[in-house]
Amino acid sequence: MWYLRASPPGLFKDTILTHSDQPRPLQSRASGPLTGKVRVPGDKSISHRALILGALAVGETRISGLLEGEDVLNTAKSMQALGARVQRTGDFAWTVNGVGVGGFAQPKAPLDFGNSGTGCRLVMGAVAGCPISAVFDGDASLRSRPMRRILDPLEKMGARVTAGEGGRLPLTLQGARDPLPITYQTPVASAQIKSAVLLAGLAAPGTTTVVETEASRDHTELMLRHFGADITSVQEGRHGRRITLVGQPELHGANVAVPADPSSAAFPIVAALIVEGSDVVLSDVMTNPLRTGLFTTLREMGASIEESEVRGDAGEPMARLRVRASKLRGVEVPPERAPSMIDEYLVLAVAASFAEGTTIMRGLQELRVKESDRLEATAAMLRVNGVTVEVSGDDLIVEGRGHVPGGGTVATHMDHRIAMSALVMGCASDQPVSVDDTAFIATSFPDFIPMMRSLGADFS
Ligand code: S3P
Repeated sequence: MWYLRASPPGLFKDTILTHSDQPRPLQSRASGPLTGKVRVPGDKSISHRALILGALAVGETRISGLLEGEDVLNTAKSMQALGARVQRTGDFAWTVNGVGVGGFAQPKAPLDFGNSGTGCRLVMGAVAGCPISAVFDGDASLRSRPMRRILDPLEKMGARVTAGEGGRLPLTLQGARDPLPITYQTPVASAQIKSAVLLAGLAAPGTTTVVETEASRDHTELMLRHFGADITSVQEGRHGRRITLVGQPELHGANVAVPADPSSAAFPIVAALIVEGSDVVLSDVMTNPLRTGLFTTLREMGASIEESEVRGDAGEPMARLRVRASKLRGVEVPPERAPSMIDEYLVLAVAASFAEGTTIMRGLQELRVKESDRLEATAAMLRVNGVTVEVSGDDLIVEGRGHVPGGGTVATHMDHRIAMSALVMGCASDQPVSVDDTAFIATSFPDFIPMMRSLGADFS
């Protein structure tokens, strides 16, 4: 595990990183009401994309509010290894001087993405359109995740891949000298697949098209436009989209203000809902409708989440959210909502455990290929804490009884969101909830523990 310590401004290679491989167990127990105002860290998806597009642009990109979590720092390191100049100019403030579309240099060492599927897969797309070869690697979790879904379209565009069984990491990707534009229908609703194809399509002459049956998060499209690309996204019918990118644009450096991450906000939000008497305010939370399925679902369950100060930057809306403890009831979550809340089912399952009645979450097959098998891991987290839960095919069914016995120890499986969800559960359970290892929280939310303590959570 690498952590960025308060580091002086300067070239990214000068930043101070400390290393620890020791598991970090923690226990969470019920506390008094959670109160206060916080800003959770910058959005992870937007942070990765700002670094990558900054590296592919000509001129300087200034990023404020960057998530300085391990996943994003690995993307920053890879952009530097590919020839961009990446500098940290202050707290969460970074500049990137890019090399231009197709201009990546041959990296001297393997690119290590640690725990991050997003960083790895998006950079594969960006490299696929450059005449260089790069080795992609990651930790044990990332090495077990499927990459064929990305490699298949990139090979159609002219990249060549040498990989192990099932296209797993570590693998070598040889980018195309003359990348081909393609029309690609994504086999699953995945912003990572869509983004990899679009980033490769930047270097191809002509028009690259991605068709998705269910709309996935559109940050790549919005940010490509912000950097000067000619890209259109047309809704086709009730669900699904056709995204068209004209290749070989001159991307120009841009300013990116990263809003707070709704997927990180999900943890203090659910904690505030389940701890009696809580009243928590979260500022600048991104409210892009393709990311807010959790908020919709929680409101259907009876949650009090008030939005104010609604505004937007580079097409990404954000708002201040006030969350007050609420009596929740079980609901059915339709499968088509999954892409807009794919990272939030773990913490939704925690909310569902404290609700009255049954919550049925349908169509969760993609959860099986995240940082861990989140479908089984979520069920295990609930079960070990006395909640009745069933995995039925790709559905998760949670029997809410208004309270959670707790008392269990949750296995994290190298998955930050399991660790944070379990700690949130302990905030209101009858007995404390223990987590075997909190170290992976640093991948997406390095200040989670102190921030939750500042609201009144009892973690020890
Ligand atoms: C992400 C897309 C999602 C999500 C991940 C971030 C992104 O993955 O789970 O945490 O930034 O594009 P898929 O698009 O593969 O579902």
